[in-house]
Amino acid sequence: MQLELGKEYPPADEARFVQQIIDDSIALRKRTKTERFRGQHAKATAGLKAKFEVLDIEDSRARHGLFSQPRSFDAILRFSNGTGRIQPDLIKDGRGLAIKLMIGNAGDSPVQDFVMINFKSFPIRDAKQYAAFMRWRLHLSRLPEAIGSRMMPAFFLFTPSRISQFARVARHVPKKISSVVEEEYHSMSPYRLGTAAIKFSVSPETFSRTSSVPSSAEDDFLTKELAERLRKDEVALRMRVQFQQDPNRHPVEDASVIWEGKDVVDVARVVLPQQELASEDSQQFARSIERMSFNPWHTLSQHQPIGGINRLRKAVYEASSALRSTQ
Ligand code: HEM
Repeated sequence: MQLELGKEYPPADEARFVQQIIDDSIALRKRTKTERFRGQHAKATAGLKAKFEVLDIEDSRARHGLFSQPRSFDAILRFSNGTGRIQPDLIKDGRGLAIKLMIGNAGDSPVQDFVMINFKSFPIRDAKQYAAFMRWRLHLSRLPEAIGSRMMPAFFLFTPSRISQFARVARHVPKKISSVVEEEYHSMSPYRLGTAAIKFSVSPETFSRTSSVPSSAEDDFLTKELAERLRKDEVALRMRVQFQQDPNRHPVEDASVIWEGKDVVDVARVVLPQQELASEDSQQFARSIERMSFNPWHTLSQHQPIGGINRLRKAVYEASSALRSTQ
């Protein structure tokens, strides 16, 4: 089939896999007694107020939706560890950054969420493969946690096509990190920007690593590291979008492929103002963020998520947020 730039190709049987994933995710959370947490990214390493400053963008391909003119929005940031359990920050993991912009009546949605992880691609291709992966996780959850989590990657060894995928995925193993603001966060899956398909990322505005991973640390050391930084100064991050250049090399329907290329445009600054994260007000605000839902489908139509992994996330995030709000 001849693929076109910016186009989605949803398979006919997708809805069946999405429902199976929701049922299995809920069964898994009941079995592991984690219903009151998020299904993934259960532990926040920080939740705080920030500013999102849209740049004066020269490249007209990027001037759509929120990025159409320079302006500033109030933002809420939630940094997280990837797993659905609460565990010490020093354990190897993927790390998340979720941004919620309060955009008032600037578009066809009152908020715009951007949800990212510090990997360039998602390990699973699409909804069908995720359904198989979720079944595998559900089987493993009968084993003791330490054994089950070690056997997770074996999922990729069952079929030849998954083995080549595993080679790609293996480049992005969960790791220890020293600071949540010295990471590069990626959308991993594609989005619309006008008629184009893009992926986006957020990374330090000027990169010089000033922290190092401690050999031993308190469970919440990432929270404390950020509090210490913001007590002294603001921190600035930068959002960039990468354009799809070739529908085969940069597929929309396979989230496990890294889009190699340099067609990248800077679109915004994310400024974390100097603040006292340990104050009672900040702590109370951080607690209120735990009750919120960050979902890539909280979006203006010009920034809509595309591709199978993103279509799947719509119903899954709603079900996860609904389950924890009933606890
Ligand atoms: C491109 C791929 C993905 C990225 C970048 C991503 C990133 C994230 C992040 C950062 C969060 C935490 C949001 C917050 O702070 O509230 C999150 C939550 C979550 N993710 Fe993903 N994720 C991806 C794919 C998926 C997929 C495929 C599934 C399952 C089908 C999934 C299931 C969940 C669930 C259940 C939550 C918790 C939602 C809630 O209770 O509010 N994610 N994800």
